[in-house]
Amino acid sequence: MESTPIMSLYWVLPILLLVGYTTGTAMSRRLSEARCVFPVVGKPFAFAPRFISNLAFAFNATSLIQQGYEKVFKHEAFQLIRSTGNMIILPHTLLEELSTIPSTIASPYKALEHDLLGAYTGLDLILESRLHHTIVQRKLTPRLGLITPGLQEELAAAFDEELPTSEDWCEFQPYQCIGKIAARLSARAIVGPAFCKDPTWLDISFNYTENLFRTIVFLRMFPPFLHYIVCPLIPAYWKCNYYIRLAKQLLVPRIRELISQNDKGTWAPKSTEEDTNVLHWMIDSVKGRDRDPHVLAHIEVLLALASVHTTLLRMVNVLYDITASNDGLVEELRQEISSVAGDSKGWDVASYDALHKLDSVLRESQRMSPPTTLGLKRFFTEAYTFQDGTRVPKGAYVCLPIQAIENDPEVTPNPEIFDGLRSYRMSKPTLTNQDKNSGKEYLFSSPTPITLNFGYGKSACPGRFFASLIVKMVFVKILTEHDFKFLPATGRPSNLMVHEFLFSSPWQRMLLKKKKYSACPF
Ligand code: HEM
Repeated sequence: MESTPIMSLYWVLPILLLVGYTTGTAMSRRLSEARCVFPVVGKPFAFAPRFISNLAFAFNATSLIQQGYEKVFKHEAFQLIRSTGNMIILPHTLLEELSTIPSTIASPYKALEHDLLGAYTGLDLILESRLHHTIVQRKLTPRLGLITPGLQEELAAAFDEELPTSEDWCEFQPYQCIGKIAARLSARAIVGPAFCKDPTWLDISFNYTENLFRTIVFLRMFPPFLHYIVCPLIPAYWKCNYYIRLAKQLLVPRIRELISQNDKGTWAPKSTEEDTNVLHWMIDSVKGRDRDPHVLAHIEVLLALASVHTTLLRMVNVLYDITASNDGLVEELRQEISSVAGDSKGWDVASYDALHKLDSVLRESQRMSPPTTLGLKRFFTEAYTFQDGTRVPKGAYVCLPIQAIENDPEVTPNPEIFDGLRSYRMSKPTLTNQDKNSGKEYLFSSPTPITLNFGYGKSACPGRFFASLIVKMVFVKILTEHDFKFLPATGRPSNLMVHEFLFSSPWQRMLLKKKKYSACPF
């Protein structure tokens, strides 16, 4: 009988499965080494195969983590099952020690790359280059004061273009409109004025992340040995790769030109508006293998991934939370802005730092709607024994149940209630203190042992100061220039939860109207 192309697939398929099985299970086998040591939570029934337990985790992660933390092992480690390997969930008591273990032993970025399926989403670059981290930590954060006027200017333009400007109530979709605003603010900082209004860059910076999460949410439903077979069938995966290619097409010519001028000594960034951005600082400071225009363009995409949706989710959730609060919170926030504006000569980073009530609201909102229920994720490259005797094997994936910790009634009384000024009330005694640093532990951008959404210790998110600045900027503007409310018969939308991630409904609608007189201080 003649062999047809369809028949030849019968040979190819087992080979593909075999290759996928050997490579895909290597990682999950290493991650499962710990299986016998710690009790497992989340098996729907005894002897449940891994793919069933994985589905239980995918659709019910929050309550499984809560179950493990609350009912069973609050002070001990336990395990949860995912398709890509078991996770060891450590107790809160090990936080301090975990945060001080060197990244050569407990790697935060190997854990991140593992979570976001780096080989399929382009995120594996973070294993080779740490430039995205150092540039935010060493250049962006110390220069927030310099960049603030440009960000405020961008925000004013973005509000005019992306939000309804009518003085009558208009329907709008917070996720869509604020998403465009978050993308523009992030773009102003990371690619600068030359690209920040470019529709291609704005499309990349928003949609790469959307497609990355679609890819991983879907792919994680399957065992790793099927990933490389399933992946090419997912349109979101094609789009992820398309956006990385598009970013390179857009940015590489400019990067190449600036590198060449920089090498000749004819260009270095000055303190002008045009040069005050991450792209120019990177080109000026990068050396070695990273001084490659394609790598730099790819890093820009990763910075968009780190900054756009993280801040968007905070902005949207805070808007929902303060609208739902109905206890005069919105007015209190407006009064705080007006009193800070009245006290200061101009409106700068120090003014944003003085908005303590707003800090408290951002923190409370993040406690109730965090981006992820698990944090302090680490991949152990060697075995490690904690001081209390907890032994983590080489190759283990370890994390803390941060949402369960922050919402533990022993940590936060009445955790189910959104109490916007909760940490403001706690901060008041320290804020009246004369010490310049007093009250700093209550800022949105300050991780503490019970506020862990930015991580904790030396590996904590390097972009948190920028995140805090732009989220506050958006609220200063929206609170002083607009009124907002839910549509009749609707209220605060619930969060969407898949795996350990929390998302916001992109289609939710609200009402907004512009105030007759703006009290915006910038
Ligand atoms: C509300 C907004 C944000 C949240 C909740 C957040 C959260 C986090 C967390 C939990 C980590 C991992 C920390 C750890 O390893 O324990 C992280 C890492 C990081 N974040 Fe953020 N982040 C936010 C905004 C930003 C922004 C705006 C930027 C960029 C300007 C940024 C840049 C980074 C970078 C570069 C890393 C390191 C990634 C790596 O290790 O490869 N983040 N962030």
